[in-house]
Amino acid sequence: MSDEIILTTHRDVEFDPETYVTTYYSRVAGEEGDMLTFFLDGLKNAFKSGAITGMKLLDIGTGPILHTAFCAAPWFEEITLSDFAHINLEFLQKWKEGEISHMDPVFEYLVEKNEKGMDVDKRQDELRRKIKHIVHCDVTLPNPIAATPVDGVVFDAITSSLCLEAASVTLDDYAKTVQNLSSLLKPGGHLVIIGVLEETFYRIGDVRFKCTYISKNQVQDIYKKEGFEIISLKDLKETCSSHKYLSEYSDYKNAFVMIAKKT
Ligand SMILES: C[S@@+](CC[C@H](N)C(=O)[O-])C[C@H]1O[C@@H](n2cnc3c(N)ncnc32)[C@H](O)[C@@H]1O
Repeated sequence: MSDEIILTTHRDVEFDPETYVTTYYSRVAGEEGDMLTFFLDGLKNAFKSGAITGMKLLDIGTGPILHTAFCAAPWFEEITLSDFAHINLEFLQKWKEGEISHMDPVFEYLVEKNEKGMDVDKRQDELRRKIKHIVHCDVTLPNPIAATPVDGVVFDAITSSLCLEAASVTLDDYAKTVQNLSSLLKPGGHLVIIGVLEETFYRIGDVRFKCTYISKNQVQDIYKKEGFEIISLKDLKETCSSHKYLSEYSDYKNAFVMIAKKT
C-alpha cells in the first residue's frame, strides 16, 4: 500500500461519487467472469419472472448507482432510494431531474437483456417517475430511515447492493444491519442483496474503505438466523469458469447475488 492510500470508513471520509462511477460502472464488459456483468445478469434474473413485486420498494445504500432500482422499477409503484452520504443523495436527485446520465452503459446492457420490450429511454422515464423519495439512511441504526418522509413505512421488497459489508466492520455489526433492514420489510417480502465475499477493503481513488470480511456460509447463517428463507444464492466463482479480479481496487475473493424472503 502506498503512503498516500488511507484505510477508513464511510463515517470518516466522504464518498466520491464521480470517481466511484468511473472506476466501477463506466463500462460493462458483458463477458463471463466480469463482476459487474455477473451482478447485472443476477439482477435481471431476479426480477424477470415478476415474482418479486408489490407497491413499495426500498433500496438501501444506493450510492450514486441505479442498477437495482432500474431492474425493479417495472414491478413496483413507489421506489425509495437511500444512502448514508448526502453527496450521493444529491447525485441521485440530479439523475432524477435529468441533469446527469452516468448510468447509460449499465442501462443499455440491462435493456439489451430485458424481456419486456421497452427501450432505455422509456425505462429511465419509468424509473424517474417511480422514484418518490431519496432519503438519508443509516443501516447501522435500529430504524435506518428515522425522521425521513418514509419513517414508519413497511416495504414490500428491499434491494441493496454492496452496502452492508461496507457499512459494517465486524460480523456482529453485519448481522445487526440485516436485523435493522429486516424491520423495514413486511413478512413475506423479498430481499435482493448483492454482496462481496472475503473482502477487507474496497478502494475509491486513494481511499480504502474497510469492509466486513464474510464468507458465503456466514452470509447464509446470518440471513437464516434473522428470519429469512434463502430462495437463491449465486456466487461468482461457481457461476463463471474464469474470473478477473480487480485486485488493485479490492481484495475480495468472491461475490454473490441473493434472493431471500422474510418468513
Ligand atoms: C460500495 S458503495 C455501493 C453503492 C451502490 N449501491 C453499488 O452497488 O455500487 C457502498 C454504499 O454504502 C453506503 N453506506 C455506507 N455506510 C452506510 C450506512 N451506515 N447506511 C447506509 N448506507 C451506507 C455508502 O455511502 C455507499 O454509497
